Formats: sequence, C-alpha cells, structure tokens
Amino acid sequence: MLSKNSLALASALTITMPVALAMGGSPAPDDAAVAARIQPVAHVEVAGAATKVAGGNRSGEEMVKTICGACHGIGAAGSPKIGDKAAWAPRIGVGLDVLTKSATVGKNAMPPKGGAADATELEIARAIVFMTNQSGANFKEPTAGTKIASNDRSPEQIAQSACLKCHETGEKGAPKLSDKAAWTQRASKGLDALTKTVIRGHGNMPARGGLADLTDSELKATIAYLLKRVGAN
Ligand code: HEC
Ligand code: HEC
Repeated sequence: MLSKNSLALASALTITMPVALAMGGSPAPDDAAVAARIQPVAHVEVAGAATKVAGGNRSGEEMVKTICGACHGIGAAGSPKIGDKAAWAPRIGVGLDVLTKSATVGKNAMPPKGGAADATELEIARAIVFMTNQSGANFKEPTAGTKIASNDRSPEQIAQSACLKCHETGEKGAPKLSDKAAWTQRASKGLDALTKTVIRGHGNMPARGGLADLTDSELKATIAYLLKRVGAN
C-alpha cells in the first residue's frame, strides 16, 4: 500500500500545501486524499496545521528556535534565560531527567512541554540539553531509546536544588541549617509530622518546598537529610 516514497511525498506536502493555502488556493482533492491516507502512518501534519516542523524527531536546536526560545531566549515570564549561568545553576543541579520531567508537566509560568503538546520526551530533553549546555551544563544529548528515568534524585540533590536557597540563608524566615536550636525544636515533632507540614506548606514555606513533583517519600528522605546535616536528629 504505502511505498517507501510516502515519507518523501509527505514531507513535500507539508511544505507545498501551506504555501498553496497561503496563496489563496485550496489543496487539490487528490492531494488531500493522499494526505489523509498518509497522515496516520507517517505522523505528518498536513493542511490546517500551522507551518511548524512536524513533531517527533526535532533536534534540540529546532525545538528551541521554534518553541522554547520565545521565553528562554529573552528570559520572558521569569524564565531562566539561555546563557544565564546563575539562573540555571540550581536547576541544572537536579539533573537532566528531573528537568525533563519538570518541563513536561510544567512549572508555574512554564506551560507543560513549553506549550508544544505534541513534543516527545526525547525532544524536550534535547531542547533542555541545547539550552543548558550554553548555560553552564555539560549534559550528554540523549538518543532515541535512552530511557529517561524519573525520581532517581538523591536527597542531597533535592536539598541543593530546592531547599537550600531558603534554608541555607534564612530567606523568608526559613530556619537556617546553622541554627541547630530552631531545628531541634521542630524535629521534636517527629519526621512524619514534619513531612506532613512540608507537603502542605507552612507560612512562607511553599508546599513541597516548591518542587511540585516531589513524592512524599523523596520529601521525607530530604527532610531526614537536612536534619542530619543540622545535627538535630
Ligand atoms: C511561555 C514561556 C515559556 C516557554 C515557551 C518555555 N518555557 Fe521553560 N520555563 C518558563 C518559566 C517561566 C520557567 C521558570 C519556572 C519556575 O521555576 O517558576 C521555565 C523553566 C524551565 C525549566 C526549568 C524547570 C525547573 O524545574 O527548574 C526547563 C528545563 C525548561 N523551562 C525547559 C523548557 C523547554 C524545553 C521549552 C520548550 C519545549 C520551554 N521551557 C518553553 C517559561 C517558558
Ligand atoms: C521559599 C523558601 C523555602 C523553600 C524553598 C523551602 N523552605 Fe522549608 N521552610 C521555609 C520557611 C519560611 C519555614 C518556616 C515556616 C514556619 O514555621 O512558619 C520552613 C520550614 C521548614 C520545615 C519545618 C516545618 C515545621 O513543621 O516546623 C521543614 C522540615 C522544611 N522547611 C523543609 C524543607 C524542605 C525539605 C525543602 C525542600 C524540598 C524546603 N523546606 C524548601 C522556607 C522554605
């Protein structure tokens, strides 16, 4: 049925059809019929779709040029700007897997997948590598078939990326790690009770320390790690 020329034909269609439409023409019925047959097989976006590059196998650079760069190129909406090492450093610390997950689900003003609903996990990861490697990271680009693991971050990585920005400095009234007395008093409630408080958030302490995808057990392990560092357990 579909010959191996189908893909070449399909990519020709993606280019010619929007042009035909832009010129005020409508696609010839034959073309439309062919396109309709090809579409489910070749996953090619045809008439009606914007002239963007089809989803599935875009390079990091393509992703960033067409999607992510709109914000990350200029630091729009409070996004970490490409090249801004200071803004990226704490994020890079959690590792590529966690960043990929975070960008996939979205975070505050960052929409899920940066708004590219059709982007694959691999494309998102490549885009992140492209941006962060210009911003102080040295990630290896994942290839097709690489399993992007989730939730394999250590308590130390979590603390580094999510908790220390307040708890090291005392920002927003957070109990500092150097303040053993403050922690000993809190620790007396027990680890489970502390974990519950942090899941909910408490005063200026954001729910889950601001890391929405943190699981309960990761959070508990991170609190245990902090208490150990303080010497309060
Ligand atoms: C509409 C603007 C916008 C677009 C488009 C966008 N981002 Fe973001 N991005 C943000 C903002 C804002 C943040 C900061 C979120 C925060 O930490 O509150 C962010 C943060 C991130 C982070 C760090 C997440 C973390 O956990 O710290 C990654 C990774 C990321 N974006 C990747 C991408 C990728 C990949 C794309 C393109 C597929 C993309 N972004 C497109 C606005 C955007
Ligand atoms: C935006 C700043 C901020 C971040 C980020 C933050 N905290 Fe907090 N945290 C606070 C503040 C402020 C308090 C004190 C809240 C209060 O008692 O009113 C607090 C309190 C706590 C407490 C004591 C809770 C209690 O019941 O007394 C624990 C445990 C804790 N944080 C753990 C964490 C962990 C784990 C993370 C990272 C996953 C984290 N925090 C990230 C600001 C922060």
